Amino acid sequence: MCGIFAYLNYRVPRTRKEIFVTLVKGLQRLEYRGYDSAGVAVDGSGKHDKDSICLFKKKGKVKALDEELYKNDSVNLDEEFDTHFGIAHTRWATHGEPSALNSHPHRSDKNNEFVVIHNGIITNYKELKKYLISKGYEFESDTDTEVIPKLIKYLYDNRESEYVSFSTLVERVIQQLEGAFALVFKSVHFPGEAVATRRGSPLLIGVRSQYELSTEEIPIQYNCEDSRRDIQDKNSFNKGNSSNALHSVNDRMAMEFYFASDASAIIEHTNKVIYLEDDDIAAVAAGNLSLHRMSRGAGDDPVRVIQTLQMELQQIMKGNFKAFMQKEIFEQPESVVNTMRGRICFDTSTVMLGGLKDHLKEIKRCRRLIIIGCGTSFHAGVATRQILEELTELPVMVELASDFLDRTTPVYRDDVCFFISQSGETADTLMALRYCKDRGALTVGVTNTVGSSISRETDCGVHINAGPEIGVASTKAYTSQFVSLIMFGLMMSEDRLSLQKRRQEIIKALHKLPEMIKEVLALDEKIKRIAEELYQQRSLLVMGRGYHYATCLEGALKIKEITYMHSEGILAGELKHGPLALVDYHMPVIMVIMKDACYTKCHNALQQVTAREGRPIILCCQDDPDISKLAYKTIELPYTVDCLQGILCVIPLQLMSFHLAVLRGYDVSPTPPLCPASLALSISR
Ligand code: F6R
Repeated sequence: MCGIFAYLNYRVPRTRKEIFVTLVKGLQRLEYRGYDSAGVAVDGSGKHDKDSICLFKKKGKVKALDEELYKNDSVNLDEEFDTHFGIAHTRWATHGEPSALNSHPHRSDKNNEFVVIHNGIITNYKELKKYLISKGYEFESDTDTEVIPKLIKYLYDNRESEYVSFSTLVERVIQQLEGAFALVFKSVHFPGEAVATRRGSPLLIGVRSQYELSTEEIPIQYNCEDSRRDIQDKNSFNKGNSSNALHSVNDRMAMEFYFASDASAIIEHTNKVIYLEDDDIAAVAAGNLSLHRMSRGAGDDPVRVIQTLQMELQQIMKGNFKAFMQKEIFEQPESVVNTMRGRICFDTSTVMLGGLKDHLKEIKRCRRLIIIGCGTSFHAGVATRQILEELTELPVMVELASDFLDRTTPVYRDDVCFFISQSGETADTLMALRYCKDRGALTVGVTNTVGSSISRETDCGVHINAGPEIGVASTKAYTSQFVSLIMFGLMMSEDRLSLQKRRQEIIKALHKLPEMIKEVLALDEKIKRIAEELYQQRSLLVMGRGYHYATCLEGALKIKEITYMHSEGILAGELKHGPLALVDYHMPVIMVIMKDACYTKCHNALQQVTAREGRPIILCCQDDPDISKLAYKTIELPYTVDCLQGILCVIPLQLMSFHLAVLRGYDVSPTPPLCPASLALSISR
């Protein structure tokens, strides 16, 4: 996830300093979407330099960029622009470490003819890069994004006729792109013009005019160049008054346009916004906004509506959610897709983790896998150990980093050690990494933070691409770590004939996973009602076994971490060895009993619990009367392949912990104040 912000003033005189202030403020609102580097592009200074673009990029938080802008004496801060378009970006790295060079805007060439900001991932960037290099383009960053400005320049330089519109060029660019993107383009060839588009990543446009804008519908025009020019007249926002009379561009109409990844960056300027849909291309030229679609498929909605936002800034940042933790729980259908994007081919049942491919042979020759992490990241290892043992046919150890170090565990050159960490900075995990490196093991990072210490210091790795996790309790990172480790197992077993059926079953289930997560999230109200019964209790036991031992550990960790209630994840197979003594009529118990190889054993555990008058709340499969008749309450979940079921089972426990915490009066994951320094505090664990 990255944050995009852009600002166009048309016939509204603004000094360069005012433009900088607007751009930086926009980025600060979006800093929760990415905070490892930031950049802006604005028009050049001076009489002779009007058609040039200046880029300012800086590693670190937006504050660092802000300071950089005012240190720079190559631009005149007081210079006034009647019309100007500036673009800005705050980055959460997915390809290439955080650095000024890798930060956005990216440029077509040394003269900055085209500059672009991007949120998303271009999955076919390697092919495009190869092609552009063959045409003589030189790349300066390690990002996927850089192919975009190069490609638009290539198309511009090779245009068939002298006149080509900016939006036509962008349309041609996105025809070549695969993956997810929200893009905003600026160019010296189209001064004062802006083009924005999206596919799979959010983008909206705020509009401010001296006239009252109605919430009328905007028809979308298709395909040909002529109709495009036409629509710029017919459907312009730059309309005069309630009669909707058109104003020619000669009228002195003052317009301002704001482009952003979400409304939090726009709301302080205007509450009139248009949410772009996939493949919409929005262009502003001569103060007029026009919208086109790349192609018209079945079900295309030909109209866009100017919406009037009623929400407050704080509300918008979290959407309709009470806290970032809740927002992140609900992001999981999207975050698991981002983890898989470009890595799994569902048609051919193949999996390729680019960051591991050069080491695959070595990994296959190793004598054991050791998975090391802390807290939730450790649980992701516990959750996937069984399937990794099955798919890799290797012994798999899962270790808590602190304990692993306390034991000075023997590690050998032919071990492969995985370091799981959302932040990539957890001290114990980092120390365990250095310990294993010193002993000659191959080290693999599985992190959510490109450029973090763990991702830098490991030999190779996987970026889980879950997007920044602001909530203090880890939720979406867990499910993305889970999916990443399973993808690793699938990649390792690609050439094992005996495992093909199993692999296909898992890959099919991964394909359906986002929809199934949505089904589970739809149980939120029911889970909240159960939480209302439980919130005054002092303790909560969570029991299961097999694949769900990890679910229980993780559920209990979430509950204790944010509700301050005692909670324990108990391996159901251990019940009779002590923990059963805790169970009685008054002790709240949650059990996870799914239809897998441990079903009968879990059923036995259930009977032990009910025999002691326990009243279990059971997470079970839909339509399982044998279980439901013994349950005090059930939470019925869709059924998926055994090794992925843990993803669907942990979500109700994430939701439960959230509701329990709110009901108990705790501030679950305080909203980061809108100042970057405090943002850093709230994300550090
Ligand atoms: C629990 C939680 C922690 C982290 C742990 C490791 O909700 O967030 O248990 O999982 O501190 O952090 P990372 O994954 O950043 O290494």
